[in-house]
Amino acid sequence: MKKYYEKSGFRLYHGNCLEILSQIPENIFDMIFADPPYYLSNGGFTCHAGKAVNVNKGKWDKSNGIEKDFQFHMDWINACKRALKPNGTIWISGTYHSIYSCGFALQKSDYKILNDIIWFKSNASPNLSCRYFTASHETLLWASKDKKSKHTFNYDLMRNDDWGDDFLKKPDKQMRSVWAIGALKLYEKKFGKHPTQKPLELLKRIILASTNKGDLILDPFTGSSTTGIMANKLGRKFVGVDIESEYLDLSIKRFEDLPKIKKEVSCQ
Ligand SMILES: C[S@@+](CC[C@H](N)C(=O)[O-])C[C@H]1O[C@@H](n2cnc3c(N)ncnc32)[C@H](O)[C@@H]1O
Repeated sequence: MKKYYEKSGFRLYHGNCLEILSQIPENIFDMIFADPPYYLSNGGFTCHAGKAVNVNKGKWDKSNGIEKDFQFHMDWINACKRALKPNGTIWISGTYHSIYSCGFALQKSDYKILNDIIWFKSNASPNLSCRYFTASHETLLWASKDKKSKHTFNYDLMRNDDWGDDFLKKPDKQMRSVWAIGALKLYEKKFGKHPTQKPLELLKRIILASTNKGDLILDPFTGSSTTGIMANKLGRKFVGVDIESEYLDLSIKRFEDLPKIKKEVSCQ
């Protein structure tokens, strides 16, 4: 298994995550963040900056039908379980197109679901047809490897830290399972944008909540490596995998620019 890139605890592999994961040793990751295909590239339209745009993200996001899509989720979720440490946790993001399938796969694979988080997007695009509610959230599932796992949860940090723009988080109150996190900041698109790039602020919260300094994090669908960029900022080690080399090249550009964006990415 050849590395595509490695520097300062930030490593990338090019290929199908199922093949790469089968070659990775068992029980090595403290945390996995997975943002798998949502399978919503069905030729529909959405609204962006006031204009109708095609929702298609790429050939990797085309559905192969419910059964095959579910089997894919089962396969990578099981492969991740093998690679996760006994006390490790996995996060999965998705919309209704994929998240129920992933949740069922987690249950079938004997993970323990710890939380489902609603990531509220206050700046969501309007619904063009005016026949549905405006989709303005994504769901994040958080699960431990099994019922016996003693998972990491940095409760004090979640409760007491300054969560900036999140108007739903009240000072000196527990962090709830609904998070208000806005869209990508301009500097996050400096080298172009992955079609489904996650905001750094979202990964900051996930990583701080469920890992400690020095921990090893995997993202099997790394895209532009938002997870890896934030992992590195926060002193965690990172392994990312993607089937498209263009996204790994974007990841490398973002990673190498990291020292220059120190001020924008505020972390303790
Ligand atoms: C939803 S995007 C992830 C975006 C990422 N979270 C970010 O912030 O940039 C999913 C990614 O998975 C990749 N992908 C799809 N199928 C894959 C597979 N079988 N193995 C590895 N990567 C895959 C796609 O190329 C795409 O970049």
